[in-house]
Amino acid sequence: MNAISSMQPIIFDPQTVAAEVDYGTPLRPGTELVTLEIDGQSVSVPKGTSIMRAAKELGITVPKLCATDNLEPFGSCRLCLVEIEGRRGTPASCTTPVEPGLKVTTQNAKLAKLRKGVMELYISNHPLDCLTCSANGDCELQDMAGAVGLRDVRYGYAGDNHCDRPKDESNPYFTFEASKCIVCSRCVRACEEVQGTFALTIQGTGFASKVSAGIDEGFLNSECVSCGACVQACPTATLNEKSMIEIGTPEHAVETTCAYCGVGCTFRAEMKGDQVVRMVPSKGGEANDGHSCVKGRFSWGYATHKERILHPMIRAKTSDPWKEVSWDEAIQYTAAKFMEIQAKYGRKSIGGITSSRTTNEEVWVVQKMIRTAFRNNNTDTCARVCHSPTGYGLKQTLGTSAGTQDFASVDETDMMLLIGANPTDAHPVFASRMKKRLREGADLVVCDPRRIDLVESPHIKASVHLPLLPGTNVALINALAHTIVTENLADWDYVNERCDSKAFNDWLEFIKQPKHAPEAVAHLLGGDAGKVRDAARRYANAKRASIYYGLGVTEHSQGSTMVMGMANLAMLTGNIGFNGCGVNPLRGQNNVQGSCDMGSFPHEFSGYRHVSDPEAHNLFSKAWGVEQDMEPGYRIPNMFDAAIKGVYKGMFVQGEDIAQSDPNTHHVEAALENLDCLVVCDLFLNETAKFAHVFLPGTSFLEKDGTFTNAERRLGRVRPVMAPKTGKHEWLIPIEISRAMGYEMHYNNTAEIMDEIARLTPTFKRVSFDRLDNEGSMQWPVTDAAPNGTPIMHIDGFVRGKGLFVVTEFVPTEERVNGKFPLILTTGRILSQYNVGAQTRRTENNVWHHEDVLELHAHDASERGINDGDLVTLRSRKGETTLHAKVSDRMQPGVVYTTFHMPESGANVVTTEFSDWATSCPEYKVTAVQVLPASAMSEWQKQYLDMNESRRKLAEMMS
Ligand code: SF4
Ligand code: SF4
Ligand code: SF4
Ligand code: FES
Repeated sequence: MNAISSMQPIIFDPQTVAAEVDYGTPLRPGTELVTLEIDGQSVSVPKGTSIMRAAKELGITVPKLCATDNLEPFGSCRLCLVEIEGRRGTPASCTTPVEPGLKVTTQNAKLAKLRKGVMELYISNHPLDCLTCSANGDCELQDMAGAVGLRDVRYGYAGDNHCDRPKDESNPYFTFEASKCIVCSRCVRACEEVQGTFALTIQGTGFASKVSAGIDEGFLNSECVSCGACVQACPTATLNEKSMIEIGTPEHAVETTCAYCGVGCTFRAEMKGDQVVRMVPSKGGEANDGHSCVKGRFSWGYATHKERILHPMIRAKTSDPWKEVSWDEAIQYTAAKFMEIQAKYGRKSIGGITSSRTTNEEVWVVQKMIRTAFRNNNTDTCARVCHSPTGYGLKQTLGTSAGTQDFASVDETDMMLLIGANPTDAHPVFASRMKKRLREGADLVVCDPRRIDLVESPHIKASVHLPLLPGTNVALINALAHTIVTENLADWDYVNERCDSKAFNDWLEFIKQPKHAPEAVAHLLGGDAGKVRDAARRYANAKRASIYYGLGVTEHSQGSTMVMGMANLAMLTGNIGFNGCGVNPLRGQNNVQGSCDMGSFPHEFSGYRHVSDPEAHNLFSKAWGVEQDMEPGYRIPNMFDAAIKGVYKGMFVQGEDIAQSDPNTHHVEAALENLDCLVVCDLFLNETAKFAHVFLPGTSFLEKDGTFTNAERRLGRVRPVMAPKTGKHEWLIPIEISRAMGYEMHYNNTAEIMDEIARLTPTFKRVSFDRLDNEGSMQWPVTDAAPNGTPIMHIDGFVRGKGLFVVTEFVPTEERVNGKFPLILTTGRILSQYNVGAQTRRTENNVWHHEDVLELHAHDASERGINDGDLVTLRSRKGETTLHAKVSDRMQPGVVYTTFHMPESGANVVTTEFSDWATSCPEYKVTAVQVLPASAMSEWQKQYLDMNESRRKLAEMMS
């Protein structure tokens, strides 16, 4: 098939997403309705609704400036005045709640005069550059001047004003043009109520009042995390996206899903032609409720970055220069190489890795290519190295390889037990939702080696922080369970009714043993057994308690054990199957859940059915016309080992930079060097591509048509806003390789791929693009019994039948500290960068984080003569690298921390090959290291930087 003719036409429809209505004040939930009359029309709305919102429900727009429907009403602008029969004065409709029988007038001569007077005051102190203003056509002040019929300003424009206030352009993505500020406080309230950062204040009073970021230090230097909530809330051009200033107002919008983390925020991509003007989080987005973080809202520039590779390339040897070829040649070359390898080394000598950054449909066709055209099960996914223990642990105990709740569940929780997750950096929009619930009074216990933001930040303070040592999670969960059992705090009725009694009794005997008492393990958990007991009591005694966790749980040699331990704890206290409870994995990448669901693992078809299960085997063999292998294939680490042995020679890698992200880089590189044909399908020439023979350019999320599945099992539509810049839809690549290898695979579009997924996967039975487009996102299972999806799992009983308690013996990792390697290194992420940084490093986000640093406690630093900012060597049994030191009070003595966003920092050069016993998920979170002052960069880093410079030049030339 010719590349261009294979492209789906993309129809831009200005009506794709209608402008979102602003009701002025938030929706009040509740079933008690109040009936009143507004401008002679009767309306019934929930108790607590404002008159402004009730009027909007009738289609009556009351002029407003300080109100918007994602913020609590404030009542400062006095533009929304109304009259109420029998009441004196003209109350603000935004702050006045409805009452039964009220008769409200929103428009009359008196109100019009008052409103005009208010607008005159605003406009007399506002620059009159509407025609050239960046918000021209998108400005509520301008709209309101029109709405109240303002034609003149009696006071003139010559009086005192703020038109000379300076601009703050420090933030890379938005400007703050203080001269245009009307001090409505929407930005301040958005930062508090929506984002929960409290970076903005109103300084001064009366005429002198002004918005201030931090202590008047500018946005970049303040606490601002660049979420953009204030920009979205601002009714004027004061806070405005730089992209909007540069390109102008958008002309149409397409709703799609963020391609970064597992929160899966819904956005309106607001466009001019095929150029993105801005991304605006959708109010109707079930995962994000109209909010975003810096990555989703602003960090999409990588999609058009000059280093992006847009043409297929091949080379016979990795020492050869790349040769640009046609799509047809690249596909034929790949297929011929793979067939040649199989002819020489056997059917199982090739395989592939699917990506959690691509759509479900793209993942589906890659694993299908492997199971049909390659005729083996050598398919694995990058979820192997992050959340595979979640799938395993929750399946064993509860029966489903996924989290139990929706995000909205946190609004109902009374207590959060947060383990090994750092949501304000890694899942920012959900973190804002958590913080909101915490400000409302929910309790919080944080179990993390570092003092993460949620331990203490403005208006948030955890009741307990357990700074456990990396690698001791299972000791912690057992100590919590031991306390609950021995202090008789368990929900025995729940356990008796819902759980397998034999397994429970076995577990009970185990957990009662004194070796699990907090006093016995306190030295591993921060040293204070009383705090461990306190945490256990708080969890057990809360009416509705929830567990949230991240990679600090899974990326351990006992990752799966810990997941099962958390499920044990939730079952023990009756905290599964209800709103506000549950065991909730916070997924790292946008489609981690989806890539697992789609049958990417070497032992499972979609829907987590084992390849040896006769029913599943027959179903897929028949549907695909190829007898399926009943033996599981290689996991990623097995692929590397087999490559080193010389029995695994060809690999297709979709959107994962294994050379940077997988542990023990030297081992990975040795494996990749041994391959006869490595095919990399990605946006950029990444670290893995150094070892590749074929580079097939992939598409960014802005070009994709499909679905992502977020951490709450929610299938969100990803819609293209532009044609593929590569001339080829990414989903077609594995299909065409399959055909070239002799397996006929065909779909007319990605909707047909989803139809096949639904046909072959019981939990997706009622999913289709049509339904997702017309009814909105859905959380699987979407079945005949739950046609609209399943926000909360295990309501009437566990999916596996009876909940299974599993004995979780604490086994310390084999990675031990000693005199030579006395410190423990643990790794994590930072808000502004994402994973290996391939996308975010190619955006302005580098202004916040341009290098990975090594955080260490002052005690460890001074013992080694290290000062803040010094270059240090980080050395483990596997390798060494150099980083700059950051002395940090977030760290405890004995533990050091770094991120892995920059290839030149080489965090994974030092991590080990140890991994989870059940799933082979690498133990990224525990590496014994030494840190010493360094005088120069390590040799490999110098070589890397030189090589990278030449690669950058080459990429630029080729683009
Ligand atoms: S961008 Fe977000 S964090 Fe920064 S000031 Fe605005 S609302 Fe606050
Ligand atoms: S910056 Fe915008 S939102 Fe904030 S007070 Fe000024 S006009 Fe209102
Ligand atoms: S929270 Fe995650 S999904 Fe939402 S905008 Fe940020 S990166 Fe995207
Ligand atoms: S919108 Fe009601 S007082 Fe401003």
